[in-house]
Order: sequence, then C-alpha cells, then structure tokens
Amino acid sequence: MGKKSTRFVCQSCGAVFPRWAGRCESCGEWNAIVEEETALSAAPNATGGKGGRRIEFVGLQGRSETSFRLKSGIQELDRVCGGGLVSGSVLLIGGDPGIGKSTLLLQVTAALSNICNIKGEPVRCVYISGEESVDQVRLRASRLGLEKSRVELATSMNVRDIVATLDAGESPDVVVIDSIQTMFVDTLDSSPGTVGQVRASGNELIRLAKRRGFVLFLVSHVTKEGTLAGPRVLEHMVDTVLYFEGDRGHHFRILRSVKNRFGATDEIGVFEMTQKGLGEVPNPSALFLAERRGNVTGSCVYAGIEGSRPMLVEIQALVAPSGGTPRRAVVGWDSSRLSMILAVLETRCHLPVSAKDVYLNVAGGLRITEPAADLAVASALLSCISGIPVPAEAVVFGEIGLSGEIRAVPQPDLRLKEAKKLGFARALIPPKRVNKKSVKEDDTGFKINEIGHLKTLMDMFGLSDRQG
Ligand code: TYD
Ligand code: MG
Repeated sequence: MGKKSTRFVCQSCGAVFPRWAGRCESCGEWNAIVEEETALSAAPNATGGKGGRRIEFVGLQGRSETSFRLKSGIQELDRVCGGGLVSGSVLLIGGDPGIGKSTLLLQVTAALSNICNIKGEPVRCVYISGEESVDQVRLRASRLGLEKSRVELATSMNVRDIVATLDAGESPDVVVIDSIQTMFVDTLDSSPGTVGQVRASGNELIRLAKRRGFVLFLVSHVTKEGTLAGPRVLEHMVDTVLYFEGDRGHHFRILRSVKNRFGATDEIGVFEMTQKGLGEVPNPSALFLAERRGNVTGSCVYAGIEGSRPMLVEIQALVAPSGGTPRRAVVGWDSSRLSMILAVLETRCHLPVSAKDVYLNVAGGLRITEPAADLAVASALLSCISGIPVPAEAVVFGEIGLSGEIRAVPQPDLRLKEAKKLGFARALIPPKRVNKKSVKEDDTGFKINEIGHLKTLMDMFGLSDRQG
C-alpha cells in the first residue's frame, strides 16, 4: 500500500477530498479535514450483500466466560477500573503533560509484573515509550526503586513495528503505549499527533489487543481546552477512559473514570506525588483537611461524594469590593454554578453581591463536580460577608434551587458517617421530609441543622433579608 490508499475526509460533514485543505468546501468548517486510510473507513459497497458471512444470533441468557481481572494491588487504581483490569480491555489515560501518567503506569506495570495471571504465570508487562529514551525511563525506574521489576521496556513510535512485535510469539498480558500522540502508521502522510494518525494508530493497537487478549493502556495528552488530543476520536473506541488530573502546584493527583464498560464511572482514586513516585491515599478526607485552620471566616467543610467514596474538603471564599467590572475566579468548581448562587443570593435574599469580586477555591487542588456543594459554597460566601466563621466542627452539604430552597442530595447518611469518623460534631444539611424539628441531635450527640431555605442560612450568619 502506498500513498494512493489515503483520502481526506471532513470530520464535520463527511465530505471526501483528494487533497488536504484548511477549509472544507462543502460545509465551510476550518481545520476539519483529516487524512484517512481508505481501507479503514470506506466499507466498499457493503450494500450488495454478496460475499458476507452470516452472523449468528443468540439469546441474552447464556454461559459466558467470566472475565478474569488482574489486580495490580494498587487499590486506588483497581477500584477506579471497577475492581481490576479485564483481559483484552483497552484503557485510555488522559492528562496534562507532566501530571504523572508515565510515573503511574510504570508503577502499575511494576506492580502487575509481581503477580500471576490466569495461567499462574507471572504477568508479562511491556512498556513501549515513544516519548522518552530507554535511559530516561530507567532513570525514573531507579528513582522509584523499581529497577529490579520484570517490566520489558522498548522505545518505538512505529505502529507497524509494534504490532509485528506483539503479534509474534507469546502474547504479553499488559501493554503500555506512552503516548498515543507519538505513534504513527506509515501508510498515512500526516505527522504523529494529528487526528488521522491518532485514530489509525489507536485502531491498529486496539484491534491487536482484542485479538490477542492483552490489557492495553494508551496514554494520551490532553489539549489546553481539556479534551483528549485528537478530538475525542479514541474515547468511543476504548473500554475505559481515565483522566489523571490535579494541580501541578499541589501534590494530590486524582484518577477519575469518565467511561468504563467494566465498572462504575465517576469513581476516583487519590494519589500523592512524592519524591518516591505516586503514593496511595486511602483516606483522602484527612489529607484534604490537614491544613485547615478552625474559626476562619470564608471557609467551610463540604461533605461530598466522589464516585462511591465520601470525601470531606475545605471550600474557601473571598468576597472583596470591586474596582470596576466584578471579577469571578473559581478554582476546583463550576464557575457557572457560582454565578447561579450569587444570583440567587442577590435576587431571592436581596444580598448585594453582584458588584463584588468573588473568589472561590477548593483547597488541595481537588475538582468538585457535584451540585451538592452549593450550600457549602453559600456558607463560605456568607461567612466571608458577615465576618462570622462557619462553626469549625460542622460539615455542610445541599443543593440550592433557583428560588433559594435547599434541596436533598444523594447519600446523606454516607456523608454524615464520614463526618463523624473525622470528628465533626455538626452538620448543616437539607431538610428531610419526615422530620419536623429543624435542629436535632442523634444518640451520639451529633447535631443536625436542617436548612430549608437560603434565608435561614443568612439568619445564622446574622444577615437578615431586609426586603423579605
Ligand atoms: P510524568 O510521569 O513524566 O508525567 P507525564 O507522563 O504525565 O507527562 O511525571 C513527571 C512529573 O512528576 C515531574 O514533574 C516530576 C514528578 N515526579 C515526582 O515528583 N516524583 C517522582 O518520583 C517522579 C518519578 C516524578
Ligand atoms: Mg510521560
């Protein structure tokens, strides 16, 4: 196959061109034309129906081989993968450059090579780097104290070579490709990292993994816009998509599953980047609260749930007079959600905040996705405005509706349990429909404040609604 077998396809409208252009003549989209291998996408006249093999249909019930799961022993990873790695599955790990993807995968492969596969033999792990030289990876391995592990290392960027190697002889159990953006198939003219190359390389490697039944990790860098480079072309082809995220200024790293055909999504694993690589953080709440100081205004402990795990984090807010156009800066949370809370405070509770600068920060570099943090954010804001600290022994959770009402959130008991475990004695939570009393204590002396409306919360901070 030479150059002739490629064509250029607009990713927006599907128009096909013989040569590349910056703008699609058909739909007018810029930078949407991508080189593709003809054999990959053009199913030549499949409609004829001739020569096709008959496929068989089966019932939904039946005996299937239960998939064997390889457990790396790194529990934060195993849990995120739904309880271990399924053979033949393909995992995509995305993250900013320098966040620690290579470090994580080196540690994972080293851990895996110490255990046995389904046949009772040691797991054979292959690490193929297209970014770093053998020396660089060895240096990292020795820094991590893993130089004695049985991981087999190679550097290559050519998918044809990689496939030929992995296809010959005994199949490995686990293969890491670091990173997919450096790989290329030589039938395409475009350079590595372009959509066409990422897709074609991904496709080849995934097909091989499925055929030979090894676990395939594809490392992918994330672009500045926050998408996996090569506009998500790989996401639908793989079984599991994991994001490795965190603030480079902090040492916490979060491994988050955003798609998983073999387990729950939105599960997270927490790691800590240390001198000796990534360490597991089995009790993240304690770590996220480690630097908290009591009785500070504008700070509040939020009892959240990330995946299946409760997690307590500190939320900090600062409301300052604005010198012009009001600024809104949010770290670790959704900024449109903050705007909504400010609008509710202004409109429903007549609190003048729209002209103020507002800063919001989730301490420790965690990114919260739940709306259940609304009430905690509002508490931090009101505490800053009033100059009255949120009680240091209290945790807060609840969603705020547009009329200022506080709404129930999932799994309140799990959140309260974690708060008790960490020594908190009080909680500000949404009302439960069955209880009439708004303040109550359970048998352990844990105090529950049920808050039905933002105005009730304002009263707690001595901010009364003058118009309402
Ligand atoms: P790396 O795994 O190379 O990131 P990625 O593959 O996602 O680009 O991680 C690089 C960063 O991790 C680098 O800034 C140094 C830091 N690091 C440590 O702090 N401790 C360690 O033991 C290692 C190996 C790396
Ligand atoms: Mg790397």
